[in-house]
Amino acid sequence: MKREEQREVSTDIILKNQLMMMDILKQNTEFEEENGRKKKYFIETYGCQMNEHDSEKLSAMLMQMGYEVSPFRDDADLIIFNTCCVRENAELKVFGNLGHLKSLKKRKPDVLITVCGCMMQQPHIVEEIMTKNKHVDLVFGTHNVHNFPTLLGQVMGEHNTVVEVWESEGEVIEGLPVDRKFTTKAFVNITFGCNNFCSYCIVPYTRGRERSRTKDAIINEIKELVAGGTKEVTLLGQNVNSYGKTLEEDIDFSDLLRSVNDIEGLERIRFMTSHPKDISRKLIDTMADCDKVCDQLHLPVQAGSNSLLKAMNRNYTVESYMEMIEYAKSKLPNVGISTDLIIGFPGETEEDVDATIDLIKRVGYITAFTFIYSIRKGTPAAEMDNQIPEDVKNERFQRVLNVLNAGAKEKTKSFKGQIVDVLVEGVSTKSDEILTGRSSQHVTVYFPGDTSLIGELVRVRITEPRAFSLNGELVD
Ligand code: SAH
Ligand code: SF4
Ligand code: F3S
Repeated sequence: MKREEQREVSTDIILKNQLMMMDILKQNTEFEEENGRKKKYFIETYGCQMNEHDSEKLSAMLMQMGYEVSPFRDDADLIIFNTCCVRENAELKVFGNLGHLKSLKKRKPDVLITVCGCMMQQPHIVEEIMTKNKHVDLVFGTHNVHNFPTLLGQVMGEHNTVVEVWESEGEVIEGLPVDRKFTTKAFVNITFGCNNFCSYCIVPYTRGRERSRTKDAIINEIKELVAGGTKEVTLLGQNVNSYGKTLEEDIDFSDLLRSVNDIEGLERIRFMTSHPKDISRKLIDTMADCDKVCDQLHLPVQAGSNSLLKAMNRNYTVESYMEMIEYAKSKLPNVGISTDLIIGFPGETEEDVDATIDLIKRVGYITAFTFIYSIRKGTPAAEMDNQIPEDVKNERFQRVLNVLNAGAKEKTKSFKGQIVDVLVEGVSTKSDEILTGRSSQHVTVYFPGDTSLIGELVRVRITEPRAFSLNGELVD
């Protein structure tokens, strides 16, 4: 086992990794000549877009090292689990899947098993892997993605498990290759990490302190994407509204949005996540002014009562949240508002649940991600002594879900007869003749059309709203 010292990242490390990629490419080319096939990799990604995007970076590096992707886990020479620990379920899934790989490793000892991502930032998890999952070959953390080729090179030459988990972030690393899953749509990080320490949340511990990428780095990345055919970008950060705070230049998220809006050839801009404590009227005004910014606002409220919001350390009130929602509705008449909710936070009362339901009805969300509170070791809420029993959490969760679903159905119904802009992403899983894409509000739309329209922005008249999606027909 090898635990690297924590250290600053520099351009030397990038160079070292590029050399290692060339080295591994040579080894893999020899493998291909001897075996008549390329080495294959398989990545399973859990969690949010931060992890999705890290997986895209890993894939790009693997391709440069001569690997090809395998759709089947058991056919791969290298299996990677990019893990999430935001809720316990996600962790249990990873351990379950790792367990399944024990017999595969016995049958095929040359298979390399890698686990990375947020779970690895927790020492007790790494410990559990080292003691109970000895078939794992490589473990690395969220701050070590850029060093993956070096770690892979080490693991190819060693029989021991290689572990590299930096406890905290280094400087922002630019210049990593990215293998984009979609050409029409792409994720672009604008900030990394989080400083908010909501009392239930593990992310600040797994992704480190908040840091912003420079405007130039972001704009250049988007320009390159557009040159490659990308039409829509989603700007990513745990709290995009605090963009710029760590930069020397005087810039905030609204200013960045305006600059992105000016990029020629780009059609659409989305962003997530907006923290309600930092959202400003200036941002809403900017959304209204910028034609490419979609009518989508994801504003996670988490709970509808001020006492819960305080216990969650969210730093806004129901009143300030509602005021911003009303302002957004007044400035963006077609806006689709979505949210995240946590049900069963310690101390939650029946009245709190009623208040949450009341808020849901007042806002009229188009979608919501609802989560049952999950105790995360190391967070303040895990230590609170008024935890809610599982059966009570489940009953409340179902109640809230019913209200949300009914509201979302009403929202989709209101699209009937409207003409919406849709960025065509592909064909539906049911038929090659039915195209699918998203409306500006991020609602999925299905309509008959020719595959040559994929990647285009088209106008669709909604004929039949479904429960959570829309059917329609092309408008010339
Ligand atoms: N930065 C984003 C959220 C990232 S995590 C924001 O603040 O909005 C995504 C969602 O997971 C959170 O919004 C929250 O609803 C949920 N979540 C986080 N920790 C959780 C926990 N311990 N139990 C249940 N849900 C949780
Ligand atoms: Fe977690 Fe809160 Fe940061 Fe979102 S803002 S990632 S919920 S600590
Ligand atoms: Fe995302 Fe999960 Fe990590 S939600 S930031 S992958 S803990």
